[in-house]
Amino acid sequence: MLTPAPRTVLVTGAARRLGREIALALAAGGWRVAVHYRGSMQDAIHTVADCDQLTGGCAAFDADFEDESAVRALLPRVAAQMGRVDAVVNNASLFEHDTAASFTYASLERHLRSNTGAAIVLAQQLHAHLLARGDTGCVVNLLDQKLWNLNPDFLSYTLSKAALEAANTVLAQALAPQLRVVGVAPGLTLTSHLLSDEKFAALHALSPLGRSSTSADVAATVKFALDNASITGTTLLVDGGQHLMKFDRDFSLM
Ligand SMILES: NC(=O)c1ccc[n+]([C@@H]2O[C@H](COP(=O)([O-])OP(=O)(O)OC[C@H]3O[C@@H](n4cnc5c(N)ncnc54)[C@H](OP(=O)(O)O)[C@@H]3O)[C@@H](O)[C@H]2O)c1
Repeated sequence: MLTPAPRTVLVTGAARRLGREIALALAAGGWRVAVHYRGSMQDAIHTVADCDQLTGGCAAFDADFEDESAVRALLPRVAAQMGRVDAVVNNASLFEHDTAASFTYASLERHLRSNTGAAIVLAQQLHAHLLARGDTGCVVNLLDQKLWNLNPDFLSYTLSKAALEAANTVLAQALAPQLRVVGVAPGLTLTSHLLSDEKFAALHALSPLGRSSTSADVAATVKFALDNASITGTTLLVDGGQHLMKFDRDFSLM
């Protein structure tokens, strides 16, 4: 009898940073990982090699999520090359600054395409793929604690993630029982070029628990969401309680 192929997960934006940590944690848990990237090809190759040491058969796939046809081609490409797809982690995200003063339709559209539309199309396609296979699976959407603790910075990014949070509920309703849909909302986890190391450490400690989330915390929560068969239509906040505090600005601009 043929042994079934190992469970396969597509992690978007997985070449670097949080997406890479999620990919590695899932590979360590026995998942075969399809590492999606847009521009970071060399990093994606390294991530695939590192994941492959943990669970063989991992591969890299490029796609620019501003282009709907590229998004629509992605899951069929993964399924064709890897044989099956059981889960998608919508981690890729555009994070460009705008405010009520600088807002444009163009900025909103780029964020909605990258952060919301792509995640919904991938959920739609995973559902169809599972239906055809007579199987069940899961989508995890990376959200942000700032949705529970709004501030005026990064307006288009915030709106795109707020729409994704609403989609998290609606898709869980619409695509059950084949598909579970779970949100994971990190707090300040990784620094950016806008923050010094000292400032990042101080902001990371600024939470009821005295620490926000680490990459390992977030990756473990994504793995938990994929493994737990009864969670759907909700979001797990992984932020040391930062959403319980009030911040007037985005962390990167504080
Ligand atoms: N970092 C944090 O502290 C933090 C806090 C709260 C929430 N989050 C959420 O956690 C997730 C990961 O955070 P992160 O900081 O690791 O993300 P990031 O570095 O800002 O972005 C992750 C990847 O998204 C990809 N990407 C961006 N626009 C794309 C597009 N149009 N098409 C395809 N790919 C695109 C990029 O891939 P390439 O490099 O290959 O171009 C990038 O490496 C995000 O959803 C974010 O909103 C993060």
